[in-house]
Amino acid sequence: MAAYQPQRAAVLQSPPIDVTIPYETAWVADKVVLITGGASGFGAGFVRHWAKHGATVIIGDINVNKGDALCRDINNQVTGTNKAHFVHCDVTNWQSQVNLFKEAVKLSPHGGLDCVVANAGIAGSDVMQEGKKLDAAEPPPPDFKIIDVNLTGVLYTTHLAYFWLPRNPGSSSSSIDAKPSSPRDRHLLLLGSVASLCPIAIQPQYGAAKHAVLGLFRSLRATSGLQGIRINLLCPYFIDTPIVTTPARFALAGGATGQVQHVVDAATRFVSDSRILGRALVVGPKMHLRQTSTGEWELTTPGATGSIEAAVFEPYADDWEDQDLWNRNFVRLLNGVQSARGWVGWAQDIVRAVLYGFGFGR
Ligand SMILES: NC(=O)c1ccc[n+]([C@@H]2O[C@H](COP(=O)([O-])OP(=O)(O)OC[C@H]3O[C@@H](n4cnc5c(N)ncnc54)[C@H](O)[C@@H]3O)[C@@H](O)[C@H]2O)c1
Repeated sequence: MAAYQPQRAAVLQSPPIDVTIPYETAWVADKVVLITGGASGFGAGFVRHWAKHGATVIIGDINVNKGDALCRDINNQVTGTNKAHFVHCDVTNWQSQVNLFKEAVKLSPHGGLDCVVANAGIAGSDVMQEGKKLDAAEPPPPDFKIIDVNLTGVLYTTHLAYFWLPRNPGSSSSSIDAKPSSPRDRHLLLLGSVASLCPIAIQPQYGAAKHAVLGLFRSLRATSGLQGIRINLLCPYFIDTPIVTTPARFALAGGATGQVQHVVDAATRFVSDSRILGRALVVGPKMHLRQTSTGEWELTTPGATGSIEAAVFEPYADDWEDQDLWNRNFVRLLNGVQSARGWVGWAQDIVRAVLYGFGFGR
C-alpha cells in the first residue's frame, strides 16, 4: 500500500514553521499596517516594534488618550515622516471601521495596506454566568458586548481587509515562494487565543468568540489564495496586559504566564515573512523543553541534552491538515454520491421540494 502523503497543496498553507529559525525584523520596513486595538497591550507592543523597524502603522482604537500618547511618543523618537497614526474607531460600529480603513489608505505613503491585524478585544464579567431573572415579564436583552467586540468587530475588520488588501499598489498575490523581503504584501493576522483551542472557564462568550475566530481562520485559508491574501492566526496564552481581569489574576496566581515581547516576536515573524500563510502560533511562557520519542514535549532543565528554550509553538498543525484533508475527502465522497444519482436524482429532489412547498409530506 502506498505511504500516506499529506496533500498540503489542498489545504493552502505553507509548511510548518520552525520557530527556532530566526527571521529578519528588517523585513517589516516600509510595510503599512492597520491594527485595531493598537493603543494597549499586544497592539501597543506591535506598533512600537514595527514602527521602530520602519513600518507605518495606523491604530484604530476607542482609547483616544492612550492611542494619541503612544503615537506621539513613537513619532518623537523617529526622524522624518511620522510612522504611527491614531484614528478613533469602535470596532463594533461598521461605519467607524469603514472610516478607519479609508483614513488608513489616505495615510499610507504608497496608498495601500500591506497588513491588517484584527487585534481589538475585551474580556470581563459575562452575563451568561450571572443568575439573571429571565422569567420577568419582559427581561431585557442580554449584554453580548464580548461577542460584539471579539467576533462581530473581527468580522467587520476581516470583511474590509479582504476588500482593501488586494488594492495595494505593487503587491502581488501571496505565495509560499514570495520574496520575504518584499514590502508590498496582502496579509491578515487574526488574534485568536488559547481559548480558540480549548474551553475557558467563566468566560463562555470569550471562548465562543475565540473559537469562532479559529473557524474564520480555517474557513478563509481555504479560499484566501483566490484573493491572493495570506491569513495567519496568533493564539496567546494568558499574558500580562490590561485585558486579564482581577479574578483571572487570582485564578492564575502561582501559574505560568507569558510575556508581551514573545507575542510581538511571533506576530513579527508572521508580518515580516511573507512566505508564511495559513499557519497558527501559540505563545506561552518561556520554557526549557525536550521532545520525547512520542512527539510530546516535556519540561527539562536548561542545557539538558536535546533541550530548547521556547515560548512560541505551532499547535495541532498536523491535526488541522488531517482534518482539512478528511473534510475534502468527505466532500469528494458526497460529490461521488451526487454524481451517481445524476440528473434523475436532482429531478426527484426538485419534485420533492416543490411538493414540500405545497405542504405535502410535512
Ligand atoms: N493578554 C492575554 O492574555 C491574551 C491572551 C489571548 C488573546 N488575547 C487577545 O489579544 C488581543 C489584544 O489583547 P491585549 O491583551 O493586548 O488587551 P488590551 O486590553 O491591552 O488591549 C485591547 C485593546 O483593544 C481596544 N478595544 C477594546 N474595545 C474596542 C472597541 N470596541 N473598538 C476598538 N478598540 C477596542 C482597547 O482600548 C485596547 O487598546 C485581544 O483580541 C485579546 O482577546 C489576549
